[in-house]
Amino acid sequence: MMSSNLKEVARAMVAPDKGILAADESSGTIKSRFDGIGLPSTKENRRAYRHMLFTTEGMEQFISGVILYDETLRQNALDEAETPFPKLLSDKGVIPGIKVDAGIHDLAGFPGEKVTEGLDGLRERLQRYGQLGAAFAKWRAVITVGRGIPTDVCIDANAHALARYAALCQESGIVPIVEPEVLMDGDHTIYRCDEITGVALRRTFEALVEHEVVLEGIVLKPSMVISGSECPEQASVEEVARRTVNNFLRNVPREVPGIAFLSGGQSSEIATAHLNAMNALFNELPWELSFSYGRALQAAPLRAWGGDPANFESGQKAFYHRAMCNSAARTGQYSADMEIAA
Ligand code: 13P
Repeated sequence: MMSSNLKEVARAMVAPDKGILAADESSGTIKSRFDGIGLPSTKENRRAYRHMLFTTEGMEQFISGVILYDETLRQNALDEAETPFPKLLSDKGVIPGIKVDAGIHDLAGFPGEKVTEGLDGLRERLQRYGQLGAAFAKWRAVITVGRGIPTDVCIDANAHALARYAALCQESGIVPIVEPEVLMDGDHTIYRCDEITGVALRRTFEALVEHEVVLEGIVLKPSMVISGSECPEQASVEEVARRTVNNFLRNVPREVPGIAFLSGGQSSEIATAHLNAMNALFNELPWELSFSYGRALQAAPLRAWGGDPANFESGQKAFYHRAMCNSAARTGQYSADMEIAA
């Protein structure tokens, strides 16, 4: 009974033509985003910013769900009724979700590597988040690439934590977004990223199966197979698309309903172009290929809004446009002309 609902929600999160908005920046991350536009990161400014995004008219054509941060899940919109954000979203048919990890921390004994914390007390927090309206959750694991890293220990520690988190979510009737991110930072080649992504995916799915996680009731949120940001040789859009999908065909079980990529520091336009190329080059894939972008959906609206109420509509227009472009990329229908027209 519970698992049929999980499957339904997971499928709705990766519904055709739609993707997920990651608006779950932690207090530290949103501060650095606001620093970029010279805006103090106060509770009210964060509320005004999220209100601007979430009340964008028509965004529900392109956005299936929004990942929120603890503070935002408990905040209200700036309308007269002070509608709680989760209700505002679900009234539009957009599924509210919640980031539940407690961030990345140094992995003891393994310099340069990270492990994600947040399992303590998670069962109770999930119950509370469910009551507040969250239907899905997110946990981000980070794999750093460098000389001699990642180690198997780091990959295993993160896979194990992802599996424990996912099992706890499903026990609470909440769909887990499982996010093993191989960082773009560094000068590694696309071949190295390909290899590490394969190992991380295999270990993650082994751990999920060991923990009896129902694969039909998760959404995978991975990084793409891509050249390191400092690598002198940058792979083409087509190579990224081909290597990414081929890697996933080898390593992601077909029971998983959808793969919703993170943008990971790619520019907004490139992130859209990559997703578009994957959907244009491959058809009849076992899973939906979608997006769950943070920066690649928000960089443009954040800049256009700039914290000034006079720019409220410009911010919404920029958000609508990026959401629409990524929706087009779900079926390989995006083209660079859509950027020029904007
Ligand atoms: P980016 O798309 O900015 O990488 O953010 C997605 C996300 O949710 C990272 O956890």
